[in-house]
Amino acid sequence: MRAHNRTTLHFVCGIFIVAALACVFAVCFAGQAKTDNATDAKASTEKLDGNNKCYVCHPSLRTEELTTAHLDIAITCDECHGPSIEHMQDEMLMTEPDLLFGRTEVNKMCSNPTCHAPGGNRDAYGLQDHKDRAKAEAFYKQWLSRTRPNGRAITPDSVCTDCHGTHNLDKATKTQPEDAESADWVQLFNGQDLTGWQKSGSASWTVDNGRIIAAPGSEGQGGELMTKAEYQDYLLAVTFRTDQPIHAGIWLHNCESQPGPRIEILDGAELTAFTGSVFMPGKGRVLVNLRDDLLDRQGYNTISVRVEGGRIQVWLNGEEIGAVRTPGPAKGRIGLHLEKQQGGGAGQIQFREVLVQRLGQPQKNAAN
Ligand code: HEC
Ligand code: HEC
Ligand code: HEC
Repeated sequence: MRAHNRTTLHFVCGIFIVAALACVFAVCFAGQAKTDNATDAKASTEKLDGNNKCYVCHPSLRTEELTTAHLDIAITCDECHGPSIEHMQDEMLMTEPDLLFGRTEVNKMCSNPTCHAPGGNRDAYGLQDHKDRAKAEAFYKQWLSRTRPNGRAITPDSVCTDCHGTHNLDKATKTQPEDAESADWVQLFNGQDLTGWQKSGSASWTVDNGRIIAAPGSEGQGGELMTKAEYQDYLLAVTFRTDQPIHAGIWLHNCESQPGPRIEILDGAELTAFTGSVFMPGKGRVLVNLRDDLLDRQGYNTISVRVEGGRIQVWLNGEEIGAVRTPGPAKGRIGLHLEKQQGGGAGQIQFREVLVQRLGQPQKNAAN
């Protein structure tokens, strides 16, 4: 119970800080923009629409803080990534944008003297250069050695985008829910083959390029991929990407005698519940996610679950869906599910990571 409260607290703090950051960013930049723009007619209003061409394929960035804070002062995607005409026109999606920044280049590019000029003789804008230095340093201390809701770990080498925004393709929050005291995550999928897993049903489960790919059988039939090991209380983080429409899921306590609850992965027309809902065979939905905007249809998504003493708490991409208590087996296998696809459609789903951390009494980590 105590562990659970802590999780909630961290989570709430995370959201609060992200929101606060967004405000600070916007205010600060807006202030700076006033002086800059007085003499700079280049920042015309036409630029404010300048990101639309990129949002077509990167819709999640429309509301992302790094993007919006800069757009408020008329700095569009092009300014950081170049016009990227070929990238936009490449139907095969093989051409990269003109300018890309690896982790090691982020601080340098942000610390450009005309943007976030560092003080002293420093070559990067440091925490001590922040307007509210105490706040920035307190934030650093609070998160040091832990993973933030944007999926980035804070270390002495952290870069701007570790603390600011969710400006990444797969905003996978790998280790949400947070547990500061233990980092004993076990990867259930080894990235190479299906060791430790058992297939059933007619869907095909293959491994390609570090992903588990589930595709329906010839008439759209579904199937399961179950761990051989059983789990009782645990944290789980599953990262996936789907076609639309899709009807898939994640079993939490699956037994031969009783299927147990299943987190749903759902997308398509005329839905009344969305990804992150919890379904109990024979009972129906016991937790309903009504928010359609949490799923990233272009990129990877992470479902995180805390299963403890019959209580299930679910997050999608770091946003809490809710918690539910449901009767069912006290332990069982973890499984990936592909539902029979309506009309025999060929909806596929790819899983990139299945991470588990057992809670409570130390048990042998039977990952395989
Ligand atoms: C026609 C669709 C499309 C448009 C328009 C588009 N992108 Fe992309 N972009 C993609 C796809 C697809 C990827 C790769 C996604 C993946 O690998 O998950 C991508 C990846 C990227 C990446 C990361 C590349 C990498 O290798 O890490 C950047 C940066 C990027 N886009 C910037 C932009 C900018 C800036 C614009 C607007 C000028 C833009 N994109 C417009 C489809 C598009
Ligand atoms: C360890 C986390 C962390 C890192 C790394 C970090 N920041 Fe910040 N930053 C913060 C926090 C926290 C605030 C909010 C301070 C406040 O509430 O006033 C902030 C605020 C800002 C602001 C608003 C005004 C100001 O100067 O305080 C800007 C601009 C900014 N950061 C830019 C950057 C840039 C550029 C980098 C990379 C060179 C960077 N930050 C790296 C945590 C960080
Ligand atoms: C202020 C500069 C800036 C602006 C404005 C900006 N980006 Fe970026 N972008 C970056 C940096 C820096 C990175 C590398 C971030 C990192 O790895 O931490 C990046 C990374 C990316 C990535 C790759 C992330 C990944 O997971 O590999 C995509 C996609 C992207 N940007 C798209 C866009 C689009 C689309 C826009 C406009 C809607 C945009 N960016 C606006 C600076 C910017």
